[in-house]
Amino acid sequence: MARILSGIQPSGSLHIGNYFGMMKQMIQYQNNSELFCFIVNYHAMTSLHDGNELRKNTVEAAIDFLALGLDPEKSIFWVQSDVPEVMELSWILSCHTSLGLLERSHSYKDKISRGLVPNAGLFTYPVLMAADILLYDTNIVPVGKDQKQHIEITRDIAGSFNNTYGDIFVMPEGEISEETSIIPGIDGQKMSKSYGNTINIFDDEKTLKKKVMKIVTDSTPVEDPKDPDKCNLFSIYKLFAAEDSLRNMKERYLKGGTGYGQVKNELLEILIEYFKPYRENRKSFEQDPGEIYNILKKGANKARSVAAVTLKRVKDAVGINY
Ligand code: TRP
Repeated sequence: MARILSGIQPSGSLHIGNYFGMMKQMIQYQNNSELFCFIVNYHAMTSLHDGNELRKNTVEAAIDFLALGLDPEKSIFWVQSDVPEVMELSWILSCHTSLGLLERSHSYKDKISRGLVPNAGLFTYPVLMAADILLYDTNIVPVGKDQKQHIEITRDIAGSFNNTYGDIFVMPEGEISEETSIIPGIDGQKMSKSYGNTINIFDDEKTLKKKVMKIVTDSTPVEDPKDPDKCNLFSIYKLFAAEDSLRNMKERYLKGGTGYGQVKNELLEILIEYFKPYRENRKSFEQDPGEIYNILKKGANKARSVAAVTLKRVKDAVGINY
């Protein structure tokens, strides 16, 4: 059975782009693969320097995942820092990573070009990510397009390490979802927290309504036919609608007579309905923080037992175990 692994940044409220772009597919893997899923709190430290905020975001991300259906009995679910072996491996890998490889990182270069003053952690971010992946003998890493290069860097590091020491690491494959880039935000650009154009999964109904009503459309009059394929309101509607409602909506677009306001009302209704069971799950998890803690610690124990085997293999090979 293939081992699938992915890490998620604890970056505050989740939006429907996160859900349809990544989380939904990921959670489904628990039914037919060996799923390793974890919250990357050490990675978050490259940009977040507020202890209370990091703590809060980490727990919130765990609650979100569990509420959306991640089953800790069917998967291994933990917080990155609860497996300290990853830091040891990260150092060892960094001694086998050329500076040039990291200097070519698009994500690093993008951040600097936007004026961010980089710390060393931001620069070595891909090494820690490689450690995340290689520590668990991962076969497949499902990620969005923006992470493609990080997987290539991981493969480079693993390849050169294996060249030096023999077959120590399993070579991971990226599984790049094209979909992440096509989920539009309320302004029609890619939905992203940094663009301020998100619809958050667990917003209250009033906020959801405000967001949906703000979805940008063109100004075709109510009675005129409209092109569903050019309408980001329709693209969002499509994520939620069942097949027959979708077909029906498409016909109404093409025929004319349905205004965007009407479509927004219908979208709001199915959106609220779609996430209703998850909201209820979330409420019950929120009331039981002790249970969240137990789930995460149990997950970490399982992850650690896998990590320990790999790390021993590595330390034996490089001569740290003496
Ligand atoms: N860099 C990833 C992101 O920002 C998060 C991440 C960290 C990750 N470690 C990982 C993803 C390991 C997959 C596997 O989305």
